[in-house]
This record gives sequence, C-alpha cells and structure tokens, in this order.
Amino acid sequence: MTDDFYDELAPLYHLIYPDWNESIRLQGDKLSQLIEAEWPGGGAHRKVLDVSCGIGTQTLGLAALGHVVTASDLSANEIERARHEAKLRGLDIAFSVCDMREAHTHHGSGFDIVMSCDNSMPHLQTDSDLLTALRQMTACLRPGGGCVVSVRDYEKEERGSNIVKHYGARVENGQRHVLFQVWDFDDGGTGEHYDLGFFFVTEDLATHAVSTRVMRSRYYAISTTRLCELMHEAGLKDVRRIDGAFFQPVLVGTRP
Ligand SMILES: C[S@@+](CC[C@H](N)C(=O)[O-])C[C@H]1O[C@@H](n2cnc3c(N)ncnc32)[C@H](O)[C@@H]1O
Repeated sequence: MTDDFYDELAPLYHLIYPDWNESIRLQGDKLSQLIEAEWPGGGAHRKVLDVSCGIGTQTLGLAALGHVVTASDLSANEIERARHEAKLRGLDIAFSVCDMREAHTHHGSGFDIVMSCDNSMPHLQTDSDLLTALRQMTACLRPGGGCVVSVRDYEKEERGSNIVKHYGARVENGQRHVLFQVWDFDDGGTGEHYDLGFFFVTEDLATHAVSTRVMRSRYYAISTTRLCELMHEAGLKDVRRIDGAFFQPVLVGTRP
C-alpha cells in the first residue's frame, strides 16, 4: 500500500511544498548543521545514507553541500524521479530501491550518518518492523556514526475521524492544485493507527475543468518517546529528541 501511494505521488510530491527548491536548500542546511553539532569534526563531507529519500528533499540538499550521499526508498517511481532531479542539479548520488527493513543487507556498513526524515518511519505499522529497520540502520553505521530520524510529533496531534489537514493551493503550468489530507484513526477515532487520504483537486485555469485524485496510505502514530526506546533497543546510545533544529522533532542516537 505504501509503495503504491508514493509511486502515484512521485510526479506531484514537490507540490506539498510552497517552494520545493527552497525546502531542499533549507532542510539540507539545517540537517548538516545538526549533524555537525551532534558529531563534530566531519564538516560537510560525510558519508551519508538516506533510507527513505523519496524524491530527494533531504538527499539533494545534503549532496549540494558536499556530503557523499547514498539514497534509497521503497518506491521505484520516487527513486526514478530523485535520479532525474539529481541529474538536473549536476549531483552525483547513488540511488536504489530498498525497503529500510533491509538497509544493511542492501547497503552494507561504514556510513558516518544514516537517516530517515519527514515521517517516513511511521509507515511501518508495528514496533517489531520499526525495530527491524532501526537495527538494520544501526548496522549501516561505522562505530561512532550517527542515526538521524525526523517524525511528526504525534503526542500533539488530535485523534479522531474526518480530520482535515490543509496544505494550501499551488499554481503550476496553468493548473491550480488544492491539496489536503483526511485522517481517520482506528477504533472510532481513538486508535494508534490511522488511514490517510491525500487529495489533489486540480483545476485547469484556462478551461476551469476540475479533476480529483486521491492517494491512500496508513500510518502508525507512534510517540517520539516510544521511537526513542526502540532506537535504544536497536543498539544506539545517547538517544534523545532534539526540538527547534528542523521543521519536525529529530531523534538522534550514536552507534557505540
Ligand atoms: C513523507 S515521504 C518522505 C520522503 C523524503 N524523506 C522527503 O522528505 O522528500 C515518506 C517516504 O518513506 C518511504 N517509505 C515508506 N516505507 C518505507 C520502507 N519500508 N522502506 C523505505 N522507504 C519507505 C516512502 O516511499 C516515502 O518516500
């Protein structure tokens, strides 16, 4: 279900941002600064592995700063687009399709940084799957290397049904896209998992013809406290949550 969702979303994904190029630059800068603050000394020349790169928001930003980035994702269409976006920007990034639960089997070890950003990990539906992914990510690191995970702060999100999250309107190539998500939590709105519909209502500005696309996925609204416990259980030390350094809370831990 998750790879279908992102395969369909791949050509439209940049519309989530008011200015995707600006977000690439900003997120790359913020992450690079956070990495240098947490694990000083490596500058902007680290060996970074992004295990959920999508169309490349963080990957492209970090590579543009000089980091040597390897990047993978479950969605083949997103990887194809990320490859294209890297080529357009003259960036040399090794892309491949991989489930983060097999990150170490696929990528091997020796990375300075392994990361999964913008709420990718909560696509895994159980603690057991999250632990598998975190163990594989930890094994990708050299001793002393750092794990960086950014997620939504689900402790602050309301539970319920028919919850609408607005993303605003974007105009591109003579079309106006209005974006919103609808969330329905399990168990009549009280559960820890929710189904999500991502709606793209597109209006042709010349003819006013309207079409609607909806892509569906599912998330585990895991708390950052529980995710930190799982990072610790996966073998990372000094696990903690950092607020205010990125647009989402960032969880970090170090391979002993
Ligand atoms: C919200 S997007 C973020 C993508 C990217 N980090 C960005 O900000 O542009 C979540 C990503 O997680 C990926 N994903 C979900 N489950 C995955 C898994 N098991 N292994 C690898 N990637 C996964 C999706 O395909 C999607 O690209």
